[in-house]
Amino acid sequence: METNTHILDTLSRPIRDLRISVTDRCNFRCTYCMPKEVFNSDYKFLRRDDLLSFEEITRISKVFSCLGVKKIRLTGGEPLLRKKLPILIEQLANVNGIEDISLTTNGVLLTKEVAQQLKDAGLKRITISLDALDDETFKAISDVKFGVEKVLKAIDVALAADLLPVKINMVVKRGDNEHSIIPMAKHFHGSGIILRLIEFMDVGSTNHWQMDDVFTAKEIVEVINQELPIEPAEANYHGEVAKRWQYKDGGGEIGIISSVTQPFCQSCTRARLSAEGKLYTCLFATQGKDLRHLIREGANDEHISDVVSAIWKKRTDRYSEQRTSETVLLPKVEMSYIGG
Ligand code: GTP
Ligand code: 5AD
Ligand code: SF4
Ligand code: SF4
Repeated sequence: METNTHILDTLSRPIRDLRISVTDRCNFRCTYCMPKEVFNSDYKFLRRDDLLSFEEITRISKVFSCLGVKKIRLTGGEPLLRKKLPILIEQLANVNGIEDISLTTNGVLLTKEVAQQLKDAGLKRITISLDALDDETFKAISDVKFGVEKVLKAIDVALAADLLPVKINMVVKRGDNEHSIIPMAKHFHGSGIILRLIEFMDVGSTNHWQMDDVFTAKEIVEVINQELPIEPAEANYHGEVAKRWQYKDGGGEIGIISSVTQPFCQSCTRARLSAEGKLYTCLFATQGKDLRHLIREGANDEHISDVVSAIWKKRTDRYSEQRTSETVLLPKVEMSYIGG
């Protein structure tokens, strides 16, 4: 397929980013994402042959690239649980038009060898999730038996492998870890590592989200500003999810992701592909389009492209702008399934 047709949705938003979930499994059980009461041994995770193969993912990515996608983010669940991931990255790095490939991970499987393989395959940068610096808070939120040390090691490994800039995702949930904001900010201040603080969102239907638990972007800014004065900084690009702030003392930047209190749907250029090949045009979607079925029934690239185009052109999503007490209760897909 040679044609390069860039398409717009009903709000004139192009399609620029493709977020690909490569597995719905994870070795953490973060309370805000995969609470262990739900994601236990009875939970029906996807089966091996439900998953798109690397060839199928690459084929779909080529179609998206022709429609305007420039950035790919690999997510999960925990993407490093997917065997031979560097092979997929190598294939994606060879897709014309893809300028940036990044990965979101909890870091635990990121050894020196893995990081180097990812880098050699063409991964540009990495984002590591970490919600606290003290073991007690970290263990309580992530529901794991080990301490922060493993994640801190992963951050060093990512730096050493030049997967830059390294970003840290910290979800702030009221009552759980707002006391960790300052320790985290101080730890990463001046390091070149970009800490991003994320409002707790009502993704999925299992995390018992309520507005009272959202520690708001405004509160986050106030807390940090009191100890480490900050000022707003220019966005890197149109549609950047994180609002950038910089330390007034030259200690670098942080990002604040305020999906709940200051939504950014107007500039949302993201499509999401689940590990089993369903296409979603919003993080808070209830339904997706099964592209795997199309592929396995023998559809050619033109046909897949037409299907994706038609969906994108009709796209009206702006969930975060329209959130109400009713939408919160909709049966939305889980974050571990659709990718972060
Ligand atoms: P960069 O490419 O480094 O700028 O990354 P990004 O800003 O796309 O952010 P990343 O993929 O690391 O996303 C960080 C977090 O922001 C995710 O884990 C989600 O919690 C949230 N997020 C990302 N995209 C969206 C989105 O489209 N809608 C909403 N509501 N939240 C999002
Ligand atoms: N609210 C906000 N962010 C979330 N993540 C997962 N669940 C939620 C939620 N309910 C984010 C975490 C993690 C990424 C994979 O998804 O930041 O870094
Ligand atoms: Fe796993 Fe990330 Fe979800 Fe935590 S937030 S359970 S590390 S996918
Ligand atoms: Fe995009 Fe949906 Fe998030 Fe709005 S809520 S920014 S439309 S993914």
